[in-house]
Amino acid sequence: MKETILVTGGTGFIGSHTTVELQNAGYEVVIVDNLSNSQADVIDGIEKITGKRPAFEKVDLRDYDATEAVFRKYPDISGIIHFAASKAVGESVQKPLMYYRNNILSLVNLLELMPKYNVKGIIFSSSCTVYGQPDVLPVTEESPIKKAESPYGNTKQINEEIIQDTIKSGSPIKSIILRYFNPIGSHPTALIGEMPNGVPQNLIPYLTQTAIGIREQLSVFGDDYNTPDGSCIRDYIYVVDLAKAHVSAMTRIMEDKTEESVEIYNIGTGRGTSVLELINAFEQSTGVKLNYKIVGRRAGDIEKVWGNVDKANEKLGWRADTPLGDVLATAWKWQLALRERNIM
Ligand code: UFG
Repeated sequence: MKETILVTGGTGFIGSHTTVELQNAGYEVVIVDNLSNSQADVIDGIEKITGKRPAFEKVDLRDYDATEAVFRKYPDISGIIHFAASKAVGESVQKPLMYYRNNILSLVNLLELMPKYNVKGIIFSSSCTVYGQPDVLPVTEESPIKKAESPYGNTKQINEEIIQDTIKSGSPIKSIILRYFNPIGSHPTALIGEMPNGVPQNLIPYLTQTAIGIREQLSVFGDDYNTPDGSCIRDYIYVVDLAKAHVSAMTRIMEDKTEESVEIYNIGTGRGTSVLELINAFEQSTGVKLNYKIVGRRAGDIEKVWGNVDKANEKLGWRADTPLGDVLATAWKWQLALRERNIM
């Protein structure tokens, strides 16, 4: 049996998919989540997929004592994957202190507790948002960090610095920072997936909700950008491929293969896809026609970003290889499953 991994935010979108892949790889998982943006029945979906129910503790990581109690209860925890965070860009502009308290205090508490409970390493969910609009594409891990556009983005930058400073100060832990591009899709079983609260802000849930008739029309935010078809370009990565990157990173820490005490990796496909290309790929792959219209630009959008992922391919021995059409088919299957279960 392999090591026990604490997955914070493990009932969320990326956390649940990562729990599945960790368990498939033989790791024991303890999930901690305060269920502020997810449901406890996600655990049932994980159990159905893997045949194994992960341990679950409803804990708020801002609460130091409650968090410490988790390490006391599960003394075998030897690694952490830290997903738990608030993640809505717009909301963070409205409620900056909520974002700073949630996202920063949680990490500080974990970093303080790790040496005390002999936890070897932590993988942190960062984002390509730290690069802002890059001057050179694709972005590498050495590309300059741009001033954050939102308190949410700022918490990612600050948390990366908190990890660097803590390890520089001599804390006996290792860290791998993963900078994700745009995670999409759902598990092929459609037993877990992305569950946005209210009106989705992200492209894929809005798109699939439009395709099934919950929303009338998808607005494409701008077709006058400096890109081949005028719509914005992103690097859309399949959530299951992304989940597998965490397993590779955790194994690298557990097997003492890291070359630096903090390693940073871009996690994407290395390819850019425009909003219009994505809509076309969705229609091709599912046979469903999408009602959309071009509207004005959305404030704060980056024009184009995609990643150079050579470092992750080489050092983590990992690659995002699921074709976009297949990924979009899983997103659609998930939306249909939600309808079947009368959830949406
Ligand atoms: N888009 C539309 N219509 C919509 C929603 C989105 O045209 O209804 C477009 C956006 O303009 C953008 C693309 O689809 O060009 C992707 O938008 P998302 O909101 O899905 O994703 P973003 O790239 O804006 O943001 C994502 C995460 C953020 C994170 C950011 C950078 O949601 O949390 O990537 O990492 F900060």
